[in-house]
Amino acid sequence: MTRRYGNYLFLCRQRSYCSQLASIPVVGSSGFLSSYRDAYKFILNAPTLVQRGYDQYPEGVFHVAHLLYWQFVVCDHKLIGNSEVASAPEDVLSFHEATRKLGSLYIMAGGSLWADDISSCQTVVTSLSRNLHRCFPDVRDEIVCAFDDVMQLQGSEWKTLTVLPAMMAGVARVSNCLFVGLPLCRNEPYLQNNIDIQFAVDIVRSANRITLFPPFLRPIAAGHKFLGKLVEERLTKEKEFGPDWPGKPNDLISWLLTDAQEGEERTTGLLVKLIMSINMAAIHTSSMTFTHALFDLTAHPEHFLPMREEAEHVVKEEGWTKAALNNMVKIDSFLQESQRLHVISSLLMNRRVVSKNGFTFSDGTHIPYGAYISIAANYENPTVFDGFRFACERAERKVDDFSEGIFKRHMVSTAVDHLSFGTGKHTCPGRFFAATELKAMLAHLVINYDVKAEVEGPGVRPADTSFSARTSPTPPICPDVTGMSDAGSSVIHLRL
Ligand code: HEM
Repeated sequence: MTRRYGNYLFLCRQRSYCSQLASIPVVGSSGFLSSYRDAYKFILNAPTLVQRGYDQYPEGVFHVAHLLYWQFVVCDHKLIGNSEVASAPEDVLSFHEATRKLGSLYIMAGGSLWADDISSCQTVVTSLSRNLHRCFPDVRDEIVCAFDDVMQLQGSEWKTLTVLPAMMAGVARVSNCLFVGLPLCRNEPYLQNNIDIQFAVDIVRSANRITLFPPFLRPIAAGHKFLGKLVEERLTKEKEFGPDWPGKPNDLISWLLTDAQEGEERTTGLLVKLIMSINMAAIHTSSMTFTHALFDLTAHPEHFLPMREEAEHVVKEEGWTKAALNNMVKIDSFLQESQRLHVISSLLMNRRVVSKNGFTFSDGTHIPYGAYISIAANYENPTVFDGFRFACERAERKVDDFSEGIFKRHMVSTAVDHLSFGTGKHTCPGRFFAATELKAMLAHLVINYDVKAEVEGPGVRPADTSFSARTSPTPPICPDVTGMSDAGSSVIHLRL
């Protein structure tokens, strides 16, 4: 960003503050210079500031300083649901505009992934969910192979595992088994490249360090090298033999082609970008969720045997199927509880006010045009981990939620008090796949491995780290090309 543009935003932020925002409480300072000091504090410690705001204004909205704008944070559940943030139309509160900020970062990271690509993935990811039953045997096979390769365990010796990088490798591989199939889903440089995209974005976001990536190493550009030929082959096959050619793989590329209109949507460049966007939406979110779950498992080992017994029983009765996973209620509940206490960001459901009239909540709070709104990812009883709380709630209701047609208290449920996947118009469409993958991984792990913490003790686990609103189960691990490599110290021990 040029100095002139930066100054302009600086002044804009102050002007909008003076004229419109005085009635909405601020966490930190609203002073001309002191708010920039607080914006810096927000980068270093957003979760604490958000929690402070939540504690002070649990039934309202507050705002905090961001370097370039004021960030409005909604605490009251009543201001999330019907007719509020979750359901506001795109021309009033824009998901695209809020993520476009991020989109420009992708471009700086060496390519042209537009934020809008993520949204056009909605329908494709829905096709993915529809195909989950049919594709589950492939997912299960890949989980078994990936665990064998990543863990590399033999005999009954304990082995130390640095959890987050191992889980990224595993999740990238299992996800890509559905996205692009064999052999590319086992191609390590391809998988590493998909992992690196998010790091590239984080690095750029952290300090405008894009110059650290020479063009030939920029991950978005590199993605074309791996995927371009494969996508071209599929386009050629369709041209020659029609849309349903014999032997056509049932994978993400095929689902993308089913949805793509003639013209620009059927170009190799756009299709490659969509596959990479979906990878980016899937890998870090799922691997961080699984890493948190493993840390919680070693910190609360009393959950281990009940989950092993449940998984063994279900598999004995029903085999390894997608439907069988629905009966692993303790595993579902455990992952959900871990997500409840360790969300991927302290600010969820980011939106930008694009209506010229601004946005007015039902309690009369008015947010001006151009401002950014998010929901505080606060949780009740943050110190009480009860892995089976959701399983118990379901048992007490004594009804099968699926038969009611309502998904309540399942990992994939969404509600104003359960925001891990968002709620409303832009609820994560990948949550059905994520839940299937993570439940199958956890069931495989508890059946086949023993686990213990690096430092044993009730509730002891590595502390979360954060950068701006984004949270992570371990210190950030950056790709070697940046010279910032830090494998993270967060390990657990495993044995067969
Ligand atoms: C545990 C893993 C995951 C978590 C915690 C997660 C979380 C989220 C959240 C919080 C949102 C934004 C919701 C909003 O702003 O209202 C989102 C959106 C999205 N997610 Fe996920 N996600 C996960 C896995 C996945 C996977 C596996 C895929 C793809 C296969 C995926 C694809 C998407 C897409 C395409 C969107 C954009 C939706 C839209 O444009 O309306 N996610 N996700």
